[in-house]
Amino acid sequence: MSWDPDQYARFGGERLRPARDLVNAISAARPARIADLGCGDGRATELLAARWPDAEILGVDDSQSMLDAAAKLGLRAEWRRDGIDTWQPGSRFDVVFSNAAIHWLPDHATLLPRLLDAVAPGGALAVQMPRNFAAPSHALLFDLAESPSWRARLAPLVRRQPVQDPQWYYDVLAPRARSIDIWETEYVHALSGDRPVVEWLKGTWLRPFLHALGPDAPVFEAEYARQVAAAYPRRADGKTLFPFRRLFMVAMR
Ligand SMILES: C[S@@+](CC[C@H](N)C(=O)[O-])C[C@H]1O[C@@H](n2cnc3c(N)ncnc32)[C@H](O)[C@@H]1O
Repeated sequence: MSWDPDQYARFGGERLRPARDLVNAISAARPARIADLGCGDGRATELLAARWPDAEILGVDDSQSMLDAAAKLGLRAEWRRDGIDTWQPGSRFDVVFSNAAIHWLPDHATLLPRLLDAVAPGGALAVQMPRNFAAPSHALLFDLAESPSWRARLAPLVRRQPVQDPQWYYDVLAPRARSIDIWETEYVHALSGDRPVVEWLKGTWLRPFLHALGPDAPVFEAEYARQVAAAYPRRADGKTLFPFRRLFMVAMR
């Protein structure tokens, strides 16, 4: 999947709010080493650096365009191009943080314990993932992709449930953690613009579908936009409300 930092940043304020909530939920007092996995354009890393200015920070991402955007922030951090699943931590980190990234990877039953293993005793694994895949924004995309006109090319891209429920993550992490805090928040974003839900998805889930279609992408996008507009009607003030559920977990070692 190729990422476009400018498209992703269009809703930067809304996207950063869960990262801020996650950073604020970490109780580690003075972490010396922090890893931000799937650091993207570095905006969430910046929150970590602001809270712990003395910490050594490593940002890991497999998208060069996102890492280039992160490097422009001028943070005192090391940026490394690597996969979250191939990353070798070397010695342990006091905080392993990942905001809105791990849902892109499969096999959480293997991945999350491995990430918790990278945390030093007394430290924290802090993760946030969207859990919004049954919402109209995503369900309509998947339904359209699996409709007769498109399924030959798009069905392999559909992932209806990349994130499990909170109980599942509790059971995976509890045997290895000293304590676990798991919660969900549904943000209700009030978005501006003509078709903000489509523009939001164009920063993330819609991208690979459009990319796969090449010159046919505008036809698919127009049909998706028509369905999304009906599912998210504008309010009287012109805004579009976009409820978005997210799952958070902080596991202490
Ligand atoms: C939605 S962005 C989130 C960026 C940032 N964490 C934030 O909160 O703004 C997801 C990021 O995860 C990265 N990513 C997705 N899968 C990855 C993988 N397997 N290994 C490394 N990075 C990955 C993408 O390149 C992208 O920058």
